[in-house]
Amino acid sequence: MAYNLLKGKRGLIFGALNEDSIAWKVAVKAKEEGASIVLTNTPVALRMGKTNELGELLGAKVIPADATSIEDLENLLKESMEFFGGKIDFILHSIGMSPNVRKGHHYSDLDYDLLLKTLDISAVSFHKILQTSRKLDAIENWGSVLALSYIAAQRTFFGYNDMADAKSMLESIARSFGYIYGRERNVRINTISQSPTMTTAGSGIKGFENLLDFGDRMSPLGNASADECADYCIVMFSDLTKKVTMQNLFHDGGFSSMGMSLRAMDQYNKGLEHGSESHNDHIYD
Ligand SMILES: NC(=O)c1ccc[n+]([C@@H]2O[C@H](COP(=O)([O-])OP(=O)(O)OC[C@H]3O[C@@H](n4cnc5c(N)ncnc54)[C@H](O)[C@@H]3O)[C@@H](O)[C@H]2O)c1
Repeated sequence: MAYNLLKGKRGLIFGALNEDSIAWKVAVKAKEEGASIVLTNTPVALRMGKTNELGELLGAKVIPADATSIEDLENLLKESMEFFGGKIDFILHSIGMSPNVRKGHHYSDLDYDLLLKTLDISAVSFHKILQTSRKLDAIENWGSVLALSYIAAQRTFFGYNDMADAKSMLESIARSFGYIYGRERNVRINTISQSPTMTTAGSGIKGFENLLDFGDRMSPLGNASADECADYCIVMFSDLTKKVTMQNLFHDGGFSSMGMSLRAMDQYNKGLEHGSESHNDHIYD
């Protein structure tokens, strides 16, 4: 059901690769809620993925940009404003990738050039988008900017690797830039910390299915789906949340506030003799 929450608003959405992408669901719902949309992704993702298909479906403009390139971002923001005939009301940063995870490097044996790439793609790109937007004065007063995060920013999760460091940085950028952009333009900047979700990026994480299952069983409301995440993003882009800024907002069915559930306690009581903290020579991954 649509509520016209984004009627007349203009949104720029990064990261819709295919139907599973969280950004894909956000774009579809934003359109349903009355927004006009620009979609963007890397040139490779545009070739390999389905962003262009989504663009046709929504009547959205698709503009290629690598979010780590200032030149690409400048072009993207200028072209978006031309397309909209004005400034942008909301931006979704839905970007994450770790070359260390892709190449199977253990967290205690990181390739540091690849670590810098992880941080650049998954966190610094958020700063680059904000800084470039500010320089071009591309975001409308009372605009809303969101990035998607994960609880591994605060707590240690097996297999999340250097993405945990990237997410910590991402959340910090939302606070630091939220202060500057809020004071100057009333632009709010937040991160949504989403449950594990079966997407292309998600399934790259080691032991992802177990993470998903654990989250689902541990959370009183169960994991939040990509569709539900999109609903939350829409509310955050709407005028109903104008004074929410510099926050990391957990959207996880209650997972982040849980310690031990009855179900986990029962499982624990059955004994964990077969469990081990050591796997394939990696201790405490
Ligand atoms: N899937 C999960 O379990 C989960 C949980 C919490 C948070 N998140 C976060 O949600 C966001 C979206 O991920 P998703 O799960 O929808 O997966 P996804 O794979 O569908 O989306 C990731 C996107 O990042 C894009 N991207 C990669 N490098 C880029 C670059 N240099 N410039 C621009 N775009 C680039 C990819 O092309 C892709 O569209 C990510 O930040 C991810 O970390 C995901």
